[in-house]
Amino acid sequence: MLFAGKIALVTGAGSGIGKATALAFARHGASVGVLSRNPDEVEAVATEIRRQGGEALALPADVADEASMRAAVEQLSTAFGGLHIVVANAGINGVWAPIDDLTPAEWDETIATNLRGTYLTLHLTVPLLKRAGEGAIVVVSSINGTRTFSTAGATAYAATKAAQVAMVQQLALELGKVRIRINAVCPGAIETRIDDNTERRGAGEAGIPVIWPQGDIPVSQGKPGTADEVADAILFLASSKARHITGIPLWIDGGQGLLR
Ligand code: NAI
Repeated sequence: MLFAGKIALVTGAGSGIGKATALAFARHGASVGVLSRNPDEVEAVATEIRRQGGEALALPADVADEASMRAAVEQLSTAFGGLHIVVANAGINGVWAPIDDLTPAEWDETIATNLRGTYLTLHLTVPLLKRAGEGAIVVVSSINGTRTFSTAGATAYAATKAAQVAMVQQLALELGKVRIRINAVCPGAIETRIDDNTERRGAGEAGIPVIWPQGDIPVSQGKPGTADEVADAILFLASSKARHITGIPLWIDGGQGLLR
């Protein structure tokens, strides 16, 4: 029970990495705010947590929308009476296309969800962490934009993921003074539903032709990682076991990002 008595908020908690993280925090004793823009999926995850004996609050909200995020954070604060841990995970791949084909609206949507969403999540929750007198934040970035730059057409996505790591390093100093740690995890290919919201257009034109060797994720012989493997690292960074760690990107990619 690493997180007994702790209160955690996980964004994008209706699926994939966020869902695995919310369930894992609950298993380890935390009360969990389960936030995503899809009301059905957050209700389902909150119900699953309660069925397993944990405490959860379903928070339907769009991370890019200030009013709905403000309402969700207030609801969590009222229900649980505070906040200690924030996982800024909600994100989309968006449209992957050559830069001269990617439209301003497509660019804006990826930036709004991944980057403005991370900003709003932190902007609205840091006051609660400050009030608690301590806190841990984990931002879910990616190998894209941090040590991989070969995903054809993923310019907007990679820009948001690089920016998240910049935010983490910048804020590690600002928030360290008030006993709040902030770190990033940078997953490689992980089996989730993210491909459902990925539109690939003209990748041949944007990419350099390359065939990755078999076993291009060395530790798993080419198989993608699992959401639970990322959740384990998020829980570590949020826990007292990582009490002297702040401002780092932690790659969870089985070595994939070193090859790509
Ligand atoms: P997923 O598609 O399975 O889950 C994403 C979750 O975020 C869903 O619950 C969805 O409803 C929610 N969401 C999306 N837009 C939202 C918004 N505007 N407001 C609130 N909730 C929103 O995806 P996955 O793979 O679990 O992705 C989670 C994070 O992991 C993302 O930030 C993604 O960039 C990152 N990531 C994923 C990798 C992968 O291979 N799956 C690799 C590297 C990073």
